[in-house]
Amino acid sequence: MRDVAIIGVSQTKFGELWDVSFRDLISEAGLKAIEDAGIEGRDLEAMFVGNMSAGLFVEQEHIASLIADQVGLNPIPCTRVEAACASGGLALRNGIMAVASGYHDIVISAGVEKMTDVVDPTPVISTAADQEWEVQQGANFPSLYAMMARRHMYEYGTTREQLAMFSVVNHKNGALNPLAQFPMEITVDQVLNSSMVADPLRLLDCSPVTDGAAAVALCPAEDAHKYTDTPIYVKGSGQASGTIALHERRDITTIDSTVHAAKRAYNMAGLQPKDMDLAEVHDCFSINGLLAIEDLGFVEKGQGGPAVEEGLTERDGKIPINPSGGLKSRGHPLGATGIAQTAEIVWQLRGEAGKRQIDGAEIGLTHNIGGTGGTAAVHIFSN
Ligand code: COA
Repeated sequence: MRDVAIIGVSQTKFGELWDVSFRDLISEAGLKAIEDAGIEGRDLEAMFVGNMSAGLFVEQEHIASLIADQVGLNPIPCTRVEAACASGGLALRNGIMAVASGYHDIVISAGVEKMTDVVDPTPVISTAADQEWEVQQGANFPSLYAMMARRHMYEYGTTREQLAMFSVVNHKNGALNPLAQFPMEITVDQVLNSSMVADPLRLLDCSPVTDGAAAVALCPAEDAHKYTDTPIYVKGSGQASGTIALHERRDITTIDSTVHAAKRAYNMAGLQPKDMDLAEVHDCFSINGLLAIEDLGFVEKGQGGPAVEEGLTERDGKIPINPSGGLKSRGHPLGATGIAQTAEIVWQLRGEAGKRQIDGAEIGLTHNIGGTGGTAAVHIFSN
């Protein structure tokens, strides 16, 4: 197997983007990543695109070929990858495997979702939960994560304020990110007084509904310096599956797929949680931010709340989490999220993250999950 490097990244502005079409979004991301990598379109050998539900959000299937055509890359193979909100993470992993195996040399892994064209996105997002056991019984993602939050509060004494703090820290970072959907600071009081979505989760505990795209360009590590002075190396890649339905889990305060994917990524990299300088984690709801830092091994089980309260996850803390603003503030265009997380880590490791730069960042991790954890992808990068 060959080592793999990232030579180019991009992210579009995230938000409610009325004047851009689905195809415009993905073209913008792809072309900017090609430009950032200093390559030509004709250098590309394959593309993998993460997307959860273009069929329901914009009534377009067969999107991989549409995208290759749109960006003028026919006849290269372009493949859509779907794993709910982890579609981007898996598109990245497929790109990495294609280059590592020697099957292709230069590959783009991208992600795109245009969620705001439908009147009610919740039924579409809910298709990623278990239809028979959850959705047809009235559950959706806010309510499923609300149950996980309640149980975490019961088991570990996690407080409502600690959940709110996760959102507050995200927004503090996102306020420095020009590509974020909600780049404003918020307070704990604002979170606690925002409208109730699914008790105990309120509006400001939730990631928003977002349009956006992102892309990364990959090549064999040994060739990376031909294209860039600042290649970022893929050190570890882990993927794991878990039960889609919550009731089948041994414990709903631990996402086992995160634990397994992280273990694989750490083993492959020969690194441990304490070696990470920063991480982008999948905080689709504030509770999942706390679960992530526990399940990735940054803090003991049950200690996510106190860790956030003590400032350990702030940009100058022991383990900076979500310098981009995370899903909460940067936004969460489902299929694009795993790639946008990667773009942020690459900018951080290159020292190009502007005002939100983490000093001395050398090793970073991304954590991207689908649904309530039916899929997890964890990647580790170094400069
Ligand atoms: N954070 C901050 N502000 C938000 C927000 C969020 N997550 N979501 C919406 N807003 C703002 C809007 O900009 C709008 O502000 P305005 O009145 O100043 O224009 C206001 O809140 C109401 O927006 P609206 O779109 O009507 O909200 P909504 O009640 O329809 O949707 C949620 C809010 C939380 C239900 C929706 O964002 C949601 O479903 N989020 C979860 C998405 C999800 O499940 N993703 C997958 C996870 S697995």
